[in-house]
Amino acid sequence: MKKISHALVTGGAGFIGSHLVDELVANGCRVTVLDNLSTGHRHNIDHLGDRIAFVEGDIRDAKLLDRVVRGCEVVFHQAAVVSVTQSVQDPSHSCEVNDLGTVRVLDASRRNGVRRVVMASSSAVYGDDPRLPKTEDMEPMPMSPYAVQKLTGEFYASAFGGLYGLETVCLRYFNVFGPRQDPSSPYSGVISIFMTKAAAGQPPTIYGDGGQSRDFVYIKDVVRANLLAATEAAAAGRVFNVGTGAFIRIRDLWTLIGELSNVKIDPVFGPPRAGDVRESVSDIGQIGKALGFSPQVALRQGLIDTLAWVRAAA
Ligand code: NAD
Ligand code: UD1
Repeated sequence: MKKISHALVTGGAGFIGSHLVDELVANGCRVTVLDNLSTGHRHNIDHLGDRIAFVEGDIRDAKLLDRVVRGCEVVFHQAAVVSVTQSVQDPSHSCEVNDLGTVRVLDASRRNGVRRVVMASSSAVYGDDPRLPKTEDMEPMPMSPYAVQKLTGEFYASAFGGLYGLETVCLRYFNVFGPRQDPSSPYSGVISIFMTKAAAGQPPTIYGDGGQSRDFVYIKDVVRANLLAATEAAAAGRVFNVGTGAFIRIRDLWTLIGELSNVKIDPVFGPPRAGDVRESVSDIGQIGKALGFSPQVALRQGLIDTLAWVRAAA
């Protein structure tokens, strides 16, 4: 990896952020984490001890941001209300965090001489455009407040580039999974919930008919995409999909997790979730061409590694 001298990771105590912090530290980067621990956990980063600076606080706090951003070369902006359903239930709160918080992060970055901000966007911005796979040049069709907020963040990033010369890169993650994804809430990522159910011998709830598709990308690949986005000159000002180019339907995902967990349990079906995208699969041609990114971990292998972590953590 090309060297980054000092990075701020917002949401660095969360699932994706904490893995990113691990990799940055392993590469000799000085790291500051800003996290309010709303869905993240100290135990995700405790093993790093005083090798990182942890600041408990909110991305909406402009004064605090000024302090933690100062001296950083790169900001990885991961903090967000991440659940689509939560954004449907409380659009004002998710708007404050995902939009106002993002503007505050960008503003503090441009005022303090940050070279580049890498932002966690989402495949949710594509909505139900029937064309598949999803390519970055499609017109976004956000269906949930969360998707609108992520798209707004992208527009702010682009405007900050034009207005202030701040380099930004937006990564539209598809569905990320792996160790440390917190299964404890009904709003958690589906793989973490299904694995917990399988381990407990309980049926999961599948929302809708289970025919909805997702492109699940393993955490290690997402971390690599972030590091390329931060260090490659060609990434500046761009928006990239981060996925695998493959998909699985949710009912088949449960069957696969059951097989890998040695359980065979029929799921319970519940009503479809409001704001749920039906079909999701990425085209990763752009990030491949511009940054040389290709995913290294296939779904099955990623699930096996995640299951090993779930068992060890139990
Ligand atoms: P996560 O909930 O584990 O991480 C989010 C972190 O942000 C948590 O540690 C939380 O405590 C922190 N946070 C939330 N609000 C904050 C605030 N106001 N101030 C400071 N910290 C705050 O979720 P994750 O899956 O690691 O998601 C990371 C990012 O990736 C998010 O921006 C999310 O929208 C995006 N994303 C995730 C996925 C996925 O499949 N997991 C897919 C697309 C995009
Ligand atoms: C997820 C991310 C979101 C991200 C988006 C990108 C989380 C919590 N959400 O949203 O931040 O921007 O991917 O694509 O990480 N499901 C069930 N049963 C369950 C849980 C979920 O059937 O118990 C279904 C959902 O209805 C949905 C699919 O599984 O169709 C995936 O759900 P979820 O993991 O919550 O992710 P997304 O909503 O796709």
